[in-house]
Amino acid sequence: MPITLTINGQVRTLDVAPDTPLLWAIREQAGLTGTKYGCGIAACGACTVHVNGQAVRSCITPVSEVEGATVTTIEGLAAGGALTAVQQAWLDQQVPQCGYCQSGMIMAVSALLAERPNATDADIEASITNICRCGTFARVRKAIHGLVSAAQGGA
Ligand code: FES
Ligand code: FES
Repeated sequence: MPITLTINGQVRTLDVAPDTPLLWAIREQAGLTGTKYGCGIAACGACTVHVNGQAVRSCITPVSEVEGATVTTIEGLAAGGALTAVQQAWLDQQVPQCGYCQSGMIMAVSALLAERPNATDADIEASITNICRCGTFARVRKAIHGLVSAAQGGA
């Protein structure tokens, strides 16, 4: 069944069953493999994308639920090749280790900071529940602190 949605600024019509998880529509139909599969049960966050600006775990989101929505994947962040502030912070702090979880982590953090540029540690704990098997949590938090500090006019 054709499902039409906008992915990274492009209107796409995908021929998928309505209960297909958005993750697989993105990876297999749209060919965007930056979004990862980790658990398939909304536990790890590797599959996080933005749907109408909100961080969503695409492994449990039926594609029929996002008909007509605006979806952004990790490939859609660096418009024109210019890294976002979050992506640059990830490089500056050398956050990724194996990298597998990091597209989902970056999408989750990007959504948090878009909504709360002054995010507190409590906000981080509530919103960034992504799992990283390499244990990059301390650097994730350091990078977020730097972004919050910059948003507040600090270094
Ligand atoms: S693959 Fe979706 S939350 Fe783990
Ligand atoms: S960087 Fe390896 S799983 Fe997170």
